[in-house]
Amino acid sequence: MPVSSLAEKTSLVSSSEYIILKTLLQFRDQFEAVPQSFLARQINFRPKEMQISLLKLIDLGLINYEKLGGEISYRINFSGLDTIAIKNLYIKNILKTLGEKIGEGKESVVYYGYDFNDNTLAIKFHRIGKSSYKKARILRGYTERKSWITITLDNAKREFDALKCIHDNSGYVPKPIATEYNAVVTEFIEGTLLNNYELKDPNKALNSILGTLRIAYNYCGKMIHGDLSPYNILVDNDENVYIIDWPQWKVDDHVLLNRDLQNILYYFSKKYNIESDFDKIMKYIRG
Ligand SMILES: Nc1ncnc2c1ncn2[C@@H]1O[C@H](COP(=O)(O)OP(=O)(O)OP(=O)(O)O)[C@@H](O)[C@H]1O
Ligand SMILES: [Mg+2]
Repeated sequence: MPVSSLAEKTSLVSSSEYIILKTLLQFRDQFEAVPQSFLARQINFRPKEMQISLLKLIDLGLINYEKLGGEISYRINFSGLDTIAIKNLYIKNILKTLGEKIGEGKESVVYYGYDFNDNTLAIKFHRIGKSSYKKARILRGYTERKSWITITLDNAKREFDALKCIHDNSGYVPKPIATEYNAVVTEFIEGTLLNNYELKDPNKALNSILGTLRIAYNYCGKMIHGDLSPYNILVDNDENVYIIDWPQWKVDDHVLLNRDLQNILYYFSKKYNIESDFDKIMKYIRG
């Protein structure tokens, strides 16, 4: 039977296979794909053991291979990266079991997770695709070649840093719990995206959103979300709101702040007839 779930794949990775995954990860920026002879020198397994491990990793869909310059070479893929993140979350007592997929976005896959006290978590695995790779490279100002993995790892860290600062300053975001490799772990919000929800008290929700933008700007180094819309806001049954999806945040970018604010005010004006003074609110956000 083919192994399909990420949790299952992770449980099947032995310690020697894990060493191979970590080695492919370690040399990601030096090689497009790591040549077999180089890998063999790094890990010092018996040739037969290395061959068996590589075949199993290919079979599980955690690495890819190709012939480069006449030699078989290997590359870790997204699932392989997810596997390393899951193993580390488990070792650090953050994640006991990985559950079903919650959703798949443009640049991530989000799963249910359960901690050692059976609390529900949201585990977001970042996955920078080819189209966003170029954009991300330019935005981050990378001059030398960086693999998509390096950019993906940066994105996870950026998202965690944003959530942490805003949460520490009492803004409305899911509580961040940990980050490992490309995974960002937060509390699970039992709720709905704002665009699918009929608010009873839209003024309260709008105030919470604007207050959170103000906290990000004033207490987190002029941080601007950069992709704010009702699709990146969760609402729970008590109508608490949570702004999610922060990896693309920017510092003090007026065009982006204008766009974020316009998106939100337009939505509340169209759906709930709340008219607001754009300039006054902008002043409030910028302190
Ligand atoms: N803490 C959380 N609790 C519950 N659900 C969550 C949480 N974080 C994310 N989700 C769910 O996962 C989806 C994707 O999350 P997010 O927006 O952060 O990723 P994304 O890759 O940007 O997705 P998209 O491209 O759809 O915007 C959300 O729309 C939401 O349904
Ligand atoms: Mg999103």
